[in-house]
Amino acid sequence: RTILILNGPNLNMLGVREPGTYGSQSLADIEAISREEGDRLGFAVDFRQSNHEGELVTWIQQAHGTADAIIINPAAYTHTSVAIHDALRAVALPTIELHLSNVHQREDFRHRSYVSLVAYGVICGFGAHGYRLALQALADKLQ
Ligand code: DQA
Repeated sequence: RTILILNGPNLNMLGVREPGTYGSQSLADIEAISREEGDRLGFAVDFRQSNHEGELVTWIQQAHGTADAIIINPAAYTHTSVAIHDALRAVALPTIELHLSNVHQREDFRHRSYVSLVAYGVICGFGAHGYRLALQALADKLQ
């Protein structure tokens, strides 16, 4: 089983970026956590980050036929991107939406998610541990 883990804009700045909100771990640390948990669960993990909406759309499209599920932290595109919504709907793979912070506790503009409409579950507020939780949820979903 192959799990595509996608990370959206500004997540390459983790560790430096608002550590009070997003934690002190870097994206490389989160990738290591995800690979370790993926190994434990028997998944191949394809872990990527982009600051570009179109690149994320292309990667979602390419998941069709190459990945078994998607975990996506769409970052700011969560709240704006019809294109990412449509791409996820098109490939129709089991998708988990993930946020490090509890978006419901934050500004109103973070309460709307286009991705939630096409995700079978949402994990938010658990920081980097959320990536482990998402992989565990997929181990159950894909069995
Ligand atoms: C985020 C929450 C988004 O609202 C924000 O734009 C991000 C990160 C999170 O992981 O908590 O960039 O997706």
